[in-house]
Amino acid sequence: MTNFSQVDGLRGIVMRGPSIIESASFYEKLWGLELSHSEDGTVFFRSTNSEPITYGLVNHPIFGIEYIHFSTKDRSSMDILFTQLVAKNCTIISKPAEFNDFAGGYGFEILDPDMRRLRFRTDSLKLPEKKKWGHPHKVSHIVLNTPDMDGLQKFFTSILDFRVSDYSGDQMVFLRCNNDHHSIALVKSHYPSINHVAFELSTIDEFMHSIGRMKQAGHNPSWGPGRHGPGDNPFAYFVSPPGFVVEFTTELQKINEKTHQPKIWSRTDPASMDLWMTAGPPTTSQRTAMQGRPDPGFLNLTNV
Ligand SMILES: [Fe+2]
Repeated sequence: MTNFSQVDGLRGIVMRGPSIIESASFYEKLWGLELSHSEDGTVFFRSTNSEPITYGLVNHPIFGIEYIHFSTKDRSSMDILFTQLVAKNCTIISKPAEFNDFAGGYGFEILDPDMRRLRFRTDSLKLPEKKKWGHPHKVSHIVLNTPDMDGLQKFFTSILDFRVSDYSGDQMVFLRCNNDHHSIALVKSHYPSINHVAFELSTIDEFMHSIGRMKQAGHNPSWGPGRHGPGDNPFAYFVSPPGFVVEFTTELQKINEKTHQPKIWSRTDPASMDLWMTAGPPTTSQRTAMQGRPDPGFLNLTNV
């Protein structure tokens, strides 16, 4: 594991929206997650790894991201990260402290330039890992739409010390905090919103089986299956009942820090966009779903 960033991984993401927890059975029965905790108006799901909050749903009048959840190696890394962020004039929501929720542990929260809440947590509850063939192992990556791609890229690379893995034309940048090709990617857009959240299957057989499970239940992929150029990962996208785009993926490229050079992938060459040339370009409705609904962000919620 490389240690160019104090952030060593992506734990998951929690989404909010009107009556959103009514869609819990989609994630549990079809998507392959498992309920890890629920309380008034909130449900959390686990995947097969030890993370207790792989995905979450919170009832709220406005659709969007409740928080994106990252890890650090330990408490001292957390403290170093916090000191760095204060020195870089980052907007702090909360200082390092014990979390008093069911997952526990230690960490803090900040805002990114689009007013998204980012939570950093270490030393938290670890669930026993599960061997459940054909079920997501973890959240692979989160893709964010932003009206200021350059500014948000700078935030992730200069403030959080992520590295650029690749670009897709001048529309998209892929960012890593460990040897996964990307944990976060950014898309140039008109307003901040969620583009999609990808869940990793351990093998290509499990990836295909997961697509099959969805199809048998009447949910065809809205895009895919195919294989992306940047990241070299197979993909299949679906639109979940709350309207959020979710992706099954596997075999994401592992970066060799000694040899990797970011490159700009073509957005016009079909074989570059879709290595197997099975998926074709996304449809208009797929692009609309990935554009998402404007997210006012954490501290703006009371002003809308
Ligand atoms: Fe993706």
